[in-house]
Amino acid sequence: MKVTLSVIKADIGSLAGHHTVIPEQIEEASKQLQNAKTSDLINDFHVTHVGDDLELIMTHKMGIDSKEIHKLAWDTFIHVTENVSKKLNLYGAGQDLLSDAFSGNIKAMGPGVAEAEFEERESEPIVVFMADKTEPGAWNNPLFRMFADPFSTAGLVIDESLHDGFVFRVMDVEQNKIVDLKTPEESYDVLALIGNTGRYVIHSIYSKKNNVLAAAASTSRLALIAGKYVGKDDPVCFVRAQHGLPAVGEIIDPFAFPHLVAGWMRGSHNGPLMPVSVKDAKCTRFDGPPRVVALGFQLSGGMLVGPSDMFDDPAFDLARSKSNEIADYLRRQGPFMPARLASEEMEYTTLKTVLDKLKNRFEESS
Ligand code: F6R
Ligand code: MG
Ligand code: MG
Repeated sequence: MKVTLSVIKADIGSLAGHHTVIPEQIEEASKQLQNAKTSDLINDFHVTHVGDDLELIMTHKMGIDSKEIHKLAWDTFIHVTENVSKKLNLYGAGQDLLSDAFSGNIKAMGPGVAEAEFEERESEPIVVFMADKTEPGAWNNPLFRMFADPFSTAGLVIDESLHDGFVFRVMDVEQNKIVDLKTPEESYDVLALIGNTGRYVIHSIYSKKNNVLAAAASTSRLALIAGKYVGKDDPVCFVRAQHGLPAVGEIIDPFAFPHLVAGWMRGSHNGPLMPVSVKDAKCTRFDGPPRVVALGFQLSGGMLVGPSDMFDDPAFDLARSKSNEIADYLRRQGPFMPARLASEEMEYTTLKTVLDKLKNRFEESS
């Protein structure tokens, strides 16, 4: 049977700044999705959070870009904003809801969306990744390592069914264009693009052998939608596992290395991506460090079995400890690049005001 998995997220208000959602927001969103499940609009759902982002994980039969499903997510975010965030004066209530009315597709309206329709396999293990205080390009490094790095995914070398490699669909988020590239033969071209994490992001990945969808990620950039800074595009993605695709262990292993991502305080700093359990998915120190959560599910006839909180595991203690060390080191650089992002990637800046003020004091140097 065909099933669609839609992971849709939005920051619609946080407790004490931008660091976490509250249980009432999760409960209220769950009630809305339970109604949609009872009326058969969706098959199943799981509501969770990472940092200040509320995450709706839904399965249904409506396909991608479904107006009904996107409206359900939009209405749920509006409902929680009105009935919880605004009522309790949470900080940044409704922050990511950029439009006054639903326009048919939630993608261009602020919330982040990773979704795909696929044939459910006899057994369908899936890992959903959700991050806060960073951007979609944060997935570039770990997705490449899962699907194209033989030093990370052993199956690429030793499993016949992965050995042919994968097709990476890469999106230029500035030009709104996509390109399909094959690995391993075009790996260097893939890296030439996705090494620029602010501009080229992995949109989805397919197995070369049978064109099976392997991964789908959110690719929106809020700032490009709104034309100004309105909050970071904290990203989501999901990866199908096993039996011709990377094993679950190969999928989560890249996160044992806390690579640097853009985001953190005021969306203007580089920081390590720290893998954490849902209970530790609170962005505290310097509004971070950026965090990622991984939930493992089995699909069963379109229903979600699970989740298992994959980073709630001592096997990731070292990565967390390394993240703290890196965070400490970077903090000591204060306002200097590269701890602070380059001017064009910063979400907050006073540079123009400062330059205007000093305009008449700049002199030709001899
Ligand atoms: C970054 C983020 C926070 C805020 C910061 C300032 O994505 O959410 O780091 O940028 O707390 O927030 P405001 O401008 O709302 O005071
Ligand atoms: Mg926020
Ligand atoms: Mg956030």
